[in-house]
Amino acid sequence: MPSIRLSERVTSIKESPSAVAADHVRDLRAQGRNILSLTVGQPDFDTPESICEAAVEAIKHGETRYTSANGTPELRNAIRQYYLRRYGRPCEDDEICVGVGGKQVIALALMATLCPGDEVIVPAPYWVSYTDMAIMNSGTPVVVETTEADGFKMTADELEQAISDSTRWLILNSPSNPSGAVYSTSELQALADVLRKHSDVLVLCDDIYNEIVFSDAKPKGLVSIAPDLANRILTVNGVSKTYAMTGWRIGFGIGPKALIGAMNKLVSQISSCASSVSQAAAAAALTGDQSAVGDMVQAYHERRDFAVERINQIDGLSCLSPDGAFYIYVNCAGLIGRHCPDGTVLGDDAAVSDYFLSQASVGTVPGTAYGLSPYFRISFATSIQVLGDAFDSIEQAIAVLQ
Ligand SMILES: Cc1ncc(COP(=O)(O)O)c(C=O)c1O
Repeated sequence: MPSIRLSERVTSIKESPSAVAADHVRDLRAQGRNILSLTVGQPDFDTPESICEAAVEAIKHGETRYTSANGTPELRNAIRQYYLRRYGRPCEDDEICVGVGGKQVIALALMATLCPGDEVIVPAPYWVSYTDMAIMNSGTPVVVETTEADGFKMTADELEQAISDSTRWLILNSPSNPSGAVYSTSELQALADVLRKHSDVLVLCDDIYNEIVFSDAKPKGLVSIAPDLANRILTVNGVSKTYAMTGWRIGFGIGPKALIGAMNKLVSQISSCASSVSQAAAAAALTGDQSAVGDMVQAYHERRDFAVERINQIDGLSCLSPDGAFYIYVNCAGLIGRHCPDGTVLGDDAAVSDYFLSQASVGTVPGTAYGLSPYFRISFATSIQVLGDAFDSIEQAIAVLQ
């Protein structure tokens, strides 16, 4: 077969490491191994019934055709209501982009704006796709390593130092995947003060987990705290995580008209629009009864408390208690350098994750994937039973290390 020459766009990036880890778990299960997976980046709940019914109704009413590139009027209306309710700001139709997941919205924003040499500031640990998305759109990621002591949050000083004449974007993800860190109002204010001095820098606020938080007060978005920066903030959100709708593939972005117009132009050429049926479901999710969200968040909260307590009791591991999302970024510095029963040494967090998979049959994602080591990420979007069994198994595997 003739070899196919691939573009630099694709050869310069890697496959999403969390997808690779999840595939690995799937392969081992197919071979008959009983693997406890803590790799999953999606809710383990089903999409609430009322949302599914709205989709069925949409099909029955013939809502099965292309929609406008920026979504149906019903979905745009639902997004406008959500933005007002959650961010305290009105927005217009031409400030809204509807994408095939928040992931596509982020990719479109970078595709619409980056030129070779443009820099994208990404605080680490970061969601695995930001850096590769920047690279595939000719940009250069500038990774700013945060510290556990700072709660895995970038400080104003660190931001100031990272900004150069080439900075095009800052990507902020709060609550964060993988750390669950949530920026407070004062922390965002400090970052906004720096951004005010650099008027060319755009800010992508990936708020996809902003409804999954464990404090009574929901965190405020940057655009609410610094409305004077609204003309360069793109707020990204979606229904995947909040409403257990990852497979429906609806995300949205709200931002300045010139940027949104460019992104919608790309939508019109790349995908025409997001699925009409999923848009109907997403509109129902955003405007309907929100009690199912509260129930899911309550369950995540209980699992978080359980998992944090267990992890901090395990020899060689420690973790902060995340304020949002459904991940814990576990410090495994205490295991590095220890010897496995076969004599090999755990040299880094990738080796620790491999060891847990082979010895404990537990799937985790190593910190190398997220740009900050030595850590690994676990997801607690799974039952307390699975979490408990996984921690028992990890504990036993650690006990035989020397
Ligand atoms: C931080 C973050 N942003 C964006 C996304 C994209 O979600 P979706 O494309 O399902 O809306 C994810 C999904 O894992 C995520 O973790």
